[in-house]
Amino acid sequence: MKFFIDTANLKQIEEARDLGILDGVTTNPSLMAKEGITGRENIMQHYKTICELVEGDVSAEVISTDLDGILREADELADIAPNIVIKVPMIKDGIKAISKLHEMNVPTNCTLVFSAGQAILAAKAGATYVSPFIGRIDDINWDGMQLIHQIAEIYAIQGFETEILAASIRSSLAIVEAAEAGADVVTCPLDSIMGLLKHPLTDIGLAKFLEDHKRGN
Ligand code: E4P
Repeated sequence: MKFFIDTANLKQIEEARDLGILDGVTTNPSLMAKEGITGRENIMQHYKTICELVEGDVSAEVISTDLDGILREADELADIAPNIVIKVPMIKDGIKAISKLHEMNVPTNCTLVFSAGQAILAAKAGATYVSPFIGRIDDINWDGMQLIHQIAEIYAIQGFETEILAASIRSSLAIVEAAEAGADVVTCPLDSIMGLLKHPLTDIGLAKFLEDHKRGN
């Protein structure tokens, strides 16, 4: 399973990269705004900086909702760096754009996916990644992780090659559950990645080893 970090914060991206386990980055317009990155020039420059920090795929989201606009933006974004993946919303023109980009061998990430039907469409269109939003489904009291299980089963039965990118992850436990459910990728905040390190028995065990070592010397 690949690990992406879900942020536009450069320090956090570097911290995750330095762990040696980072496979890529996902961003969205809200995450860019959170970092105070506004205006086309600044946004493009920020994507360039992120692409220089990591070798893996960097999802950059389009703002347009019409086919021509999405394709125009995709063209500009793809020019930034070879590791840019065009993030396209699950809408009618989004699916048309993903099909066209697939024909042109441009990698895509179909975002804002909340049902198995949408995931089937994304795969049929040839999306490189499909992003079901786990946390947002949980927020409305449905079972987000169940959707990952369902999509994984359908993709396996049908032989779809689109990678399942579990998004909107809000905890370390969700990373483990997404792995169990068959996600190919998880994209998560730095805190959730770092949370995987933690276990009280590790801390207790290490303290004891260090204490015994000191006593023995
Ligand atoms: C990533 O691709 C998504 O845009 C992101 O995970 C959404 O997360 P949120 O639901 O916490 O905003």
